[in-house]
Amino acid sequence: MKTIMITGSSSGIGKAAARYFAEQGWNVIATMRSPERETELSPLENVLVTRLDVEQQETIQEAVRLGLERFGTIDVLLNNAGYGVLGIFEAASDEQIRKQFEVNVFGLMAVTKAILPHFRANHNGVIINLSSMSGRVGLPSFSLYHATKFAIEGFTETLSFELASQNIRLKLIEPGVVKTDFFGRSLDLLSIESLPDYRAYSESVQPLVEAIIKTDSACTPELVAEIIYQAATDGTKQLRYVVGEDAKALLELRKEIGEDAFVQHITQQFS
Ligand SMILES: NC(=O)c1ccc[n+]([C@@H]2O[C@H](COP(=O)([O-])OP(=O)(O)OC[C@H]3O[C@@H](n4cnc5c(N)ncnc54)[C@H](OP(=O)(O)O)[C@@H]3O)[C@@H](O)[C@H]2O)c1
Repeated sequence: MKTIMITGSSSGIGKAAARYFAEQGWNVIATMRSPERETELSPLENVLVTRLDVEQQETIQEAVRLGLERFGTIDVLLNNAGYGVLGIFEAASDEQIRKQFEVNVFGLMAVTKAILPHFRANHNGVIINLSSMSGRVGLPSFSLYHATKFAIEGFTETLSFELASQNIRLKLIEPGVVKTDFFGRSLDLLSIESLPDYRAYSESVQPLVEAIIKTDSACTPELVAEIIYQAATDGTKQLRYVVGEDAKALLELRKEIGEDAFVQHITQQFS
């Protein structure tokens, strides 16, 4: 029986993936910041719910140790934990900027680093990183969040070269908007109260941000979980998996009209 370790399994995509892999007969190490609150995954026989905060190194080591103790081996790591800072860049404090990278980028790197000795010893493993269409295109108001997803894209693509030498494959999952509570529970909204110069811009861009977030093309976390399962099991060298009609349409448009024209196209949406 194969085993997957997932970060951020308390809700949304992480929880859907934990459920989906368990249903397919996998062992699941469902990690989260507050495992004591989890009720749905804990009763499942092949699921270990345990604590992991990507900002706390000792919890990462302990989750890997407990997972190996329970299941003997880990075959796949899903780096899913993440959140977003939304708004005008200049309104973000240094702490908010750093935290966005601490969780989405350095946290992902720390968990990756913790699992690598095990994957290397097995000469086998798959690392799946939750990116986003935000890792491929820039959309207004999301500069910090997009910066982290662009970083994940560059890190993953580049790391794939050296880890191929260890028979470890890397995968990027790139959903558009997913019907989770991400925009309700996992967004840190920046205030421009002290920066009135941005008020007109902010007001002009607001409808576009709303349209992106509230798109009718949003996909379900269950669909993302299925694509993650495909990435974990297809045995191919495919690096990127785009999920959702909105992401597919946006990336197709960028390819078709070129990068500069695409940026102009986005600008025209709000000016
Ligand atoms: N929803 C979308 O439209 C969308 C689109 C593309 C990509 N994504 C990406 O998908 C991933 C999951 O998001 P989601 O939509 O499923 O939203 P979500 O339900 O809000 O899930 C976010 C998860 O990340 C966890 N998390 C946050 N900080 C953490 C930390 N320091 N250590 C460990 N876990 C932490 C949260 O745990 P707590 O319960 O403790 O807060 C939660 O389990 C994120 O990487 C996000 O960027 C989402």
